Amino acid sequence: MDFTLSEEQKYIVQTAKDFAENEIAPSSVERDIKSDFPDEIIKKLGELGFMGMMVSPDWGGAGMDTISYTLAMEEISKVDASVGVIMSVNNSLVCYGLEKWGTDKQKEKYLKPLASGEKLGAFCLSEPEAGSDATNQNTTAVRDGDYYILNGMKNWITNGTKADYYIMIAATDKSIGYKGISAFIVESNSEGVEKGKKEDKLGIRSSDTCSIGLNNVRVPKENLLGAEGNGFRIAMETLDGGRIGIASQALGIAQASLEASVKYSHERKAFDAPIANLQAIQFKLAEMATKIDAARLLVHRAAKMKDEHLKYSKAAAEAKLFASKIAVECALEAIQIHGGYGYVREYLVERYLRDAKITEIYEGTSEIQKLVIARDLLK
Ligand code: CAA
Repeated sequence: MDFTLSEEQKYIVQTAKDFAENEIAPSSVERDIKSDFPDEIIKKLGELGFMGMMVSPDWGGAGMDTISYTLAMEEISKVDASVGVIMSVNNSLVCYGLEKWGTDKQKEKYLKPLASGEKLGAFCLSEPEAGSDATNQNTTAVRDGDYYILNGMKNWITNGTKADYYIMIAATDKSIGYKGISAFIVESNSEGVEKGKKEDKLGIRSSDTCSIGLNNVRVPKENLLGAEGNGFRIAMETLDGGRIGIASQALGIAQASLEASVKYSHERKAFDAPIANLQAIQFKLAEMATKIDAARLLVHRAAKMKDEHLKYSKAAAEAKLFASKIAVECALEAIQIHGGYGYVREYLVERYLRDAKITEIYEGTSEIQKLVIARDLLK
């Protein structure tokens, strides 16, 4: 596989880097402390074409490939992983499914404003009793004339309080298990949609996570996404792409940890010289850099396989499993290199650790990624 970046991909990296440094970095510490959502930043990301990067220009997107998306995700997440996840959910978990399974009418009404960043989306699969066990959907959708009536509770919904539109997974026929699960487009201001309080999280604090209650929400039958009973497959295929996005987010955090560590190693003196002269530090930096390069290769391979329409579930799971693991490891090493300074807010690396941890949990835990990989090996 050729991983040389095209001129367009290099331009994406530079654009994302400039935007992250100039527009995101100045407010990131304060937003983390206050748990403030980056409304203005997300609006500007939309204007840059970063909220619907892989969507065709016919539907308001930027028409880029998945590698470009991973490059932008890495640069944005390097500076602020909260902004990264907001962008990732809108791109991979919402726009992707609408473009792939939506009718032209649905694309016109929902995909266009989501891809252009005018509106924000969220993906609602998890429930209090359906996390890793995603087929155990207790949210129901019952047909009533020209409508479906939705009832249930969704958990851990990224962009939950801010989203305009939800991709909502619900059981249309619980008696037949995952074959009775369907996907819907639900407008967040529909009567009966109850947004829970914003979760007070360890990391990615500037992003928005909440539960969503559905109390007799009437959804027009035109808002069924794909065929009735195809919702679980839609969710799984969507998550394959989502995992590339989260792997890129993890990669950004790992790279930020390394860059902060290199800089600090030159600045900090011990035993009359910069700590960069010490082998104990050099070995840590070398290990971090090697792990990051390996993770980036896995992420780009998965992205390339997706672009080439190859089966990429296992590749995406491997990329997410490895990138999330090394993000936590690199953030921990960055703290160790910074010593006491790494343990306080001033040097950012403590946030990298808090932000990194979630990448081993959402869009499928590391254990679920191993299951996906092992099932592919053993089939
Ligand atoms: N693509 C297409 N179809 C798929 C698929 C995929 N990647 N994975 C499974 N399927 C299909 C299977 O082929 C099967 O259909 P057939 O019988 O017709 O072949 C059907 O789905 C059921 O599959 P399984 O028997 O494998 O189902 P399972 O119950 O064993 O579950 C699982 C599989 C991998 C454990 C799955 O439940 C899973 O991925 N769980 C984790 C869910 C997850 O990632 N949740 C994160 C929520 S999103 C989030 O984090 C929120 C946010 O806002 C960021």
